[in-house]
Amino acid sequence: MAERRKVSVVGAGSVGATVAYASLIRGAVKTMALYDIDREKVRAEVLDLNHGSQFYPTANVIGADEIAVTADSDIVVITAGAKQKPGQTRLELAAVNVAMCRSLVPSLLALSPEAILLLVTNPVDVVTYAAVQASGLPSRRVFGSGTVLDSSRLRTLLAQHCDVAVHSVNAFIVGEHGDSQVPAWSQAAIGGVPVRNWSPPGRAPLDEQTLERIAHEVLTAAEQIIRGKGATNYAVGLSAAGIVEAVLHDERSVMPVSSLLTGQYGIDDVCLSLPSIVDGQGVDVILTPPLAANEADALRRSADTVRGVERSLGI
Ligand code: LAC
Repeated sequence: MAERRKVSVVGAGSVGATVAYASLIRGAVKTMALYDIDREKVRAEVLDLNHGSQFYPTANVIGADEIAVTADSDIVVITAGAKQKPGQTRLELAAVNVAMCRSLVPSLLALSPEAILLLVTNPVDVVTYAAVQASGLPSRRVFGSGTVLDSSRLRTLLAQHCDVAVHSVNAFIVGEHGDSQVPAWSQAAIGGVPVRNWSPPGRAPLDEQTLERIAHEVLTAAEQIIRGKGATNYAVGLSAAGIVEAVLHDERSVMPVSSLLTGQYGIDDVCLSLPSIVDGQGVDVILTPPLAANEADALRRSADTVRGVERSLGI
C-alpha cells in the first residue's frame, strides 16, 4: 500500500482539535489538515498544534477556512456540527447536522475521491447513514465512530471495579451511540472469564446490580461531562484517533464502529455499531457475536429508534 497518511479533520472545535492532537501524538499521520469555516479558530488551532511539533513524530500540520485544504486525503474525519447542550439528546441534533453532512460530503469527495470517511458528528449513526447515501461510495468506506467511545467507557469502568488493566477487558456496547445503546454483557470477559462468572478470591464480584450501575454510568457519561465542562472531547478524540490509526496501519482491529447493516440480527438499512474488522479500506467485516436473546431484541429496538429518526428526516 502506497504511503498514505494525510488525514483531514472537518471542524476545528474541541472534538476536531483533539482528534488532530491525539493523531499527531500517536504518530499515525504524516499530514494533518484542519478545515473550519471559522478562519481565526482554525488558524489558531494549527499554530498551537505546530508549536508542539518537537514533541510528536514528524508531521506537517496545515489548516484553512477553505475546503481545498482537505484535498488528497486518505481519511476525512467529520466532526463539524451543532453539539449537545445540557439536557439535549444526540438525536435532537439530527436535522441540522444531517443537512451539514449532506452538503459537505460531495465536495470533500470531489477533492479526495479515494478517501475513507469517518463520521464523528452526532447523532453519529444517523449522520453516518446520511453520509453513506450522499457519498455513493461502498458503505465499507463510510462509517462512524459509533460506540467505540461507549465501549471504552464500559471497559474503563469494568477495569476499575475489577482492579485489572483496561486492556485485559473485552467488552462492547452495540447499537446506537446514544440512549438506546446495548451493553453486550453475554460477550464481555476479563482474561477469558465471562463477567457474570467473575469472582476471583479477594476481588469485588460483578453482580447484576453492579453491571446495571456500570451500564448506567456509560449511558450518562456524556451528560455528566457536558454539565461540567460544556462538551466532551478527550475520549471521543482518542477514539477517533484510534480508528484513524487502525485504517492507516491496515490493522484489522475489531472495533464497534457504526456502519450500514445488511441483515445482521435481522436488521438492515440503518447504521449501528457492531464489532467490526477495521482495515486499510475501512470496515471489512461486521461481526455477529452470539448475543443473548434480550440483547438482540434491544439491538433491534435500537435500530427502530435510529431508523425512525432517519425516516423523520426523509433519508
Ligand atoms: C460523547 C459524545 C461524543 O458520548 O457523543 O461523549
